[in-house]
Amino acid sequence: MKFLCQYAILLLSNVGFAANLIDGEILYKESCIRCHGSDIHKEIALEDIVQLKVGIQLCVNALYLPWNQTDINDTAGYLDSQYFHFDKTLKANGKN
Ligand code: HEC
Repeated sequence: MKFLCQYAILLLSNVGFAANLIDGEILYKESCIRCHGSDIHKEIALEDIVQLKVGIQLCVNALYLPWNQTDINDTAGYLDSQYFHFDKTLKANGKN
């Protein structure tokens, strides 16, 4: 049992290395889409993924959402793969 728990913790902590685009999509749809929708990349001018993360943080703070850095990274990854395309290695929608 102890071994199983340690294995689960190891698996979970490894997920943090890359943005989890599925989680990002869920988070965005849950908390952001009512204001931003699918035109977010046309409404706001951002130049890179760092600015995107800072911008997300601004809204997260303004809305008092209990998000951690992983939530912000995942949502940035999702928004980038869907709309902004700063990171050319993200090919979630196959259009990059
Ligand atoms: C209550 C409405 C509302 C919600 C909900 C909301 N935002 Fe925003 N967001 C805004 C407004 C208004 C702006 C400013 C738009 C502008 O600069 O033209 C903004 C700006 C931004 C920006 C750009 C900031 C910048 O630096 O210019 C990003 C990125 C962003 N929001 C992401 C998010 C994300 C991710 C969420 C979900 C956690 C979210 N927003 C939720 C209203 C909202």
